[in-house]
Amino acid sequence: MGEEQYIIWHQSTVTKISRQQKNQHKSCVIWFTGLSGSGKSSLANALDQVLFSKKVQSYVLDGDNIRHGLNAGLGFSKEDRKENIRRIGEVSKLFVESGQIVSTAFISPFREDRDQVRALFPDGEFIEVYVKCPISVCENRDPKGLYKKARNGEISEFTGISSPYEEPNQPELVIESDQLTISQSIETIIDYLKYKSIL
Ligand code: ADX
Repeated sequence: MGEEQYIIWHQSTVTKISRQQKNQHKSCVIWFTGLSGSGKSSLANALDQVLFSKKVQSYVLDGDNIRHGLNAGLGFSKEDRKENIRRIGEVSKLFVESGQIVSTAFISPFREDRDQVRALFPDGEFIEVYVKCPISVCENRDPKGLYKKARNGEISEFTGISSPYEEPNQPELVIESDQLTISQSIETIIDYLKYKSIL
């Protein structure tokens, strides 16, 4: 038997609800998913900026940054991506428990992995935002020059080229990042948060 049987869950004294009351807004995860170069990080950071200016407790977890620290050592195989997303899901849950609105920017290409994160949260706390952008546009943007490397075969298992991206079936929001400006996209998300009484 594993030793985890001796680890007992300790209930927080200060509850999520009391933290939300103090902050005067609800907490949730805004889970951006989409191809590399689709605009997830830009949107998550722009949203964070707007929320911050509204005195909302907000934070961003970003794929490239988290892979330098918490998830250093994980690669891009299906198993490693699954573990990457599982850990981020758990970290996001902690942020939501702490009363914050956390925006995450990970490709998270596999539906099953995203759905496992969704299952960690009560209804309404996991908001999946599909940042939809044709791969040709992402590839033209190629901000990190990675598509070029993937095409040359220098990077294997690259999402959209040599590894699949599974579109969400029922995301809470779809942002067509090649059709909308960043401020239009942020407005759509803020409107949604107000409509759901999160803000
Ligand atoms: S995920 O698939 O596990 O969700 P994550 O969002 O953490 O991916 O990291 C994606 C970022 O890693 C990309 O934006 C890109 O900069 C970089 N990257 C390096 N190798 C790959 C690859 N094989 N596939 C996709 N992204 C890669």
